[in-house]
Parts: sequence; C-alpha cells; structure tokens
Amino acid sequence: MRMVDLIEKKRDGKELTTEEINFIIEGYTKGEIPDYQVSAFSMAVFFKDMTQRERADLTMAMVNSGDTIDLSAIEGVKVDKHSTGGVGDTTTLVLAPLVAALDVPVAKMSGRGLGHTGGTVDKLEAVAGFHVEITNEEFVKLVNEHKIAVIGQSGNLTPADKKLYALRDVTATVDSIPMIASSIMSKKIAAGADAIVLDVKTGAGAFMKTLDGSKDLARAMVGIGNNVGRRTMAVISDMSQPLGAAIGNALEVQEAIDTLKGHGPKDLEDLCLALGSQMVFLAGKASSLEDAENKLREVIANGKALDKFRDFLANQGGDASVVDHPERLPQAAYKIEVPAPRSGVVSEIVADEIGVAAMWLGAGRATKESEIDLAVGLMLNKKVGEAVQEGESLVTIHANSEDVANVKAKILAAISIADSAEAPTLIYGTII
Ligand code: URA
Ligand code: CA
Repeated sequence: MRMVDLIEKKRDGKELTTEEINFIIEGYTKGEIPDYQVSAFSMAVFFKDMTQRERADLTMAMVNSGDTIDLSAIEGVKVDKHSTGGVGDTTTLVLAPLVAALDVPVAKMSGRGLGHTGGTVDKLEAVAGFHVEITNEEFVKLVNEHKIAVIGQSGNLTPADKKLYALRDVTATVDSIPMIASSIMSKKIAAGADAIVLDVKTGAGAFMKTLDGSKDLARAMVGIGNNVGRRTMAVISDMSQPLGAAIGNALEVQEAIDTLKGHGPKDLEDLCLALGSQMVFLAGKASSLEDAENKLREVIANGKALDKFRDFLANQGGDASVVDHPERLPQAAYKIEVPAPRSGVVSEIVADEIGVAAMWLGAGRATKESEIDLAVGLMLNKKVGEAVQEGESLVTIHANSEDVANVKAKILAAISIADSAEAPTLIYGTII
C-alpha cells in the first residue's frame, strides 16, 4: 500500500477501506508516514468528508494506537460524560455524585489542562486534602464499593490523536466534523467508557459557534459511538453566556454543592438533569429518560446526592465538612463589585471574554507551567434576560489583589445591556 494512492483516493471522494485507514494511522503513529502526506490527507478529508463506516474505523484506529483503560473489573455499565468545553461548566462536579447516588458507576479519569479555570481535578483540589493520586486497585475498589472515584490521567492514550490534532492545528484542518468527532470519541473509548453522554455546546463561548455545526458534530459523534458498540447520546446546550453563576475553582465547588442541595442556578440544574437522565438511562438504571429524571430529582430532594458527594470527598482524603461549611473552601481576600453602567436588561454576556477575565485573575492556566489560584474567580449576579438597575452589581470579582482594573474593564466590555432582551434557549435538542 502506498500513502500517495490513499491521498489520491480520498481527494477524489472515494471511500477508504478499514485496512487503508489502519495503514495510515499505524504508519503515522510509528513515524513511517511523514507529516506532509498526512497534511494532504487531512485536507482531502476536510473537503470530501468520510462515511459513517470510515469515521468509525478512524476512531478505532486511533484508540488502538496506544494504551486503553480496562474497566472490566468495575461492575455495571460505565457511562462517561464529555463536554465540548465552555466557561464555568460545573456539570461534572454535580453529575458525578448525582448519578452515583443512583448506583451508576462513575469511574472518571480526569486531567488538569489549560483554560479559563482548572480542570475537574484542580477544582476538586480546592477541597483540603482531596487527591487523585490513587492506585488502579484503589480506584476499582472505590467505584465498586461507593460507585464513584476520580483518578489522575495516566498511560499513553491515543498517541495518534495527539499527533494528528497537533498537525491539524497548523494545517487549517481542525474544523472537520469527521476528524473532530473521531478525535473526541477515540479519547472517551480509550478511557474505557461502555456508554457515552455528550454535551455539545453551541454559541460564542463554544468550539462550534453555530447551531447547525453543533448538531452536525453531535450527530457525527453519536453515529460513531453507536457504530462501535458504545451507546451514545448527546445534548446540544447553550454556551453563548457562561453556565451557572460561578467561574473559578473553589467557587464552582461551592456552586456544585448548592446544586446538589437543590438550590443551584436554574440553568446548571436543568442541564445536569438532562445530561444525568441520559447517563442513568444508558446505565440501565431507569426505564426511560423521564423515569431517570424523576429519580434524579428524588436523590436531590432526599439528600442522597449530597451524601454521595461527602462520601466521595472523604474517600479520597478530602475534608467533607466543606459541604456544610463552604467558608472552609479557599476564600479570596477581596470581593469587588462591577456595577452596571446603565439600567435595562442584560442582553449579552460573551462567554469566552468572561473566561479570559477569570484567567487573568489566576483561576486558570495560560500555559502548562502556570500556577492556579483556587480561591479566585467571578460570580455572575445577572444573566442574559435579567433586569438590572444602574449601579447594581453585575459581577462580583473574587481576587487576591486589589488591582483589578483590567479585569473590570474586560468584564464590562463583555456584557451588554439593552432596553429589552430574552434569556437564551438552554437546551437546543437531544440526539439519541
Ligand atoms: N477537541 C478534540 O479533542 N479534538 C478535536 O479535533 C477538536 C476538539
Ligand atoms: Ca458555573
């Protein structure tokens, strides 16, 4: 087989065989096929797309390029949730204990990563003593006994994806549905998921800015999952403005606790119920999505979800008393209000700009070497569609420095106030 022939075949819009796709991915991972040929191939895929079968084959070729996590020692259907990313997305912190309270096994491998705030692991480390450095044996034991554990990332997962994603980044071929979908799905499958729930964000703060693009991506990922024997569902949700009120590490832990108590922000709660219903249903713990949602509401109301969160924190060395004493979470030295420049209705809160403001405060990492300040962040006091009086606080800045003039200016530039505005739709649809 020659790579040049396969580039030509895709360039001409033909369907590649499983063997041909394996040849490309194996050859590229081993360094036998050079970047310039894979660049040309990626551009051909960008223009000519891939069939469902090719997408599934590409995904599995990337899964098989490195280590895979074996979760077979854990009883039950392991459902993983993935979000395509956004600002202030506290869903994982809420969903993990929430579905575990219904005996859905949550065996989560989580990383730190770059971004506006830390990753799930950083957020959880805002709880004193909590750690994810546990052995595989402890991890399996915790999930079997308590239905929930988080372990730090390990192993050489999907090296083909790492190499291909980096190449796509510099060859203008990131924005290709078959390649984005196979990239994301390969990582979830390699991490051992039996079933996958996807939260595909749409809007200014999302990877996919348009609703049509987000729907196409969701359909592509659901298609791949179901094709390779991993039941997959997706929710398309708004990321034009940040989700919930909190953007920051300790602040989001507190927001998650509030939500598990049943008095979190409405948008965060609604999205967690939608995603959680799919997780519970796919795990076989409910007869329908509606039944699943009722069960989730029940464990919030009777305190079982909150108990599960306490349990989870304590099992991994964390101070579970923060659940009842949130003031024991890291606190910033200064709380600085950002007053509304005029009266009216909030009409826009540009999610990624707000995210940048949080990062400037120190809530997230700009580079792998940056240190995170777990205490700092932003609390949105008004969301799109809410009325505000001139001088009333739009946002509370939680900072460890009094000098936040640049952060304030960034926030004010990201928020618009008009004479009237509607709250955006939160959930644009589900794909099953
Ligand atoms: N996120 C991924 O993990 N892969 C892509 O290709 C795009 C976004
Ligand atoms: Ca939030």
